[in-house]
Amino acid sequence: MQIRSAEFKCSNTRTEKLPPPVLPEYAFIGRSNVGKSSLINMLTNKKGLAKTSQTPGKTQLINHFLINENWYIVDLPGYGYAKVSRKSREEWERFIRYYLKNRENLQCVFVLIDSRLEPQKADLDFCFWLGEHGIPFVLTFTKADKQSKVKTLQNVNGFKKAFLEYFEEVPQYFITSSENQEGRDDVLAFINEVNGR
Ligand code: GTP
Ligand code: MG
Repeated sequence: MQIRSAEFKCSNTRTEKLPPPVLPEYAFIGRSNVGKSSLINMLTNKKGLAKTSQTPGKTQLINHFLINENWYIVDLPGYGYAKVSRKSREEWERFIRYYLKNRENLQCVFVLIDSRLEPQKADLDFCFWLGEHGIPFVLTFTKADKQSKVKTLQNVNGFKKAFLEYFEEVPQYFITSSENQEGRDDVLAFINEVNGR
């Protein structure tokens, strides 16, 4: 799929103010600093579209980006950020989980996983929660440029193994790098296919 246009639409803390649930929507979620905003910029080929930062916790709102004037990418705040107070973490949980459970035009959630790490409990827990609520999701292993292919595949296999202790099968997954565009075509082809269903 070609990206002809990508524009920032709105940032929200309240689900009532989101764009009308008419166009297909894809949400990007994962632990703080995993590379959600960078991946969105990579996919759209627009460097400053989603704000990125070396400091975890940069994205605090639900951000909607309209792509090709007919579908949305949604950048969500990261989970598992230790420096955020318990109260704001609970608020995040309530608000994001409400959004994920109730957003009728949400086609699929991209759960981003840092490809450099061993399986993380926060990621597995989040996947289980999505599974429990019947929310469709795929996995995206990020930052593949930071290490050898062998190491990436070792970590991907480690995650799959941990995943299969709780699920019957591993969902579709992508290996990506926002530095060198690895995985871009695959992710966009997937979205294109789902949009056409
Ligand atoms: P929050 O919004 O804070 O939850 O973070 P985020 O998940 O949106 O992460 P963000 O895209 O801001 O990236 C965090 C840091 O990782 C930045 O310093 C990015 O430059 C870096 N980064 C993200 N993706 C990649 C990647 O694929 N390769 C490399 N080398 N660095 C990356
Ligand atoms: Mg972000």
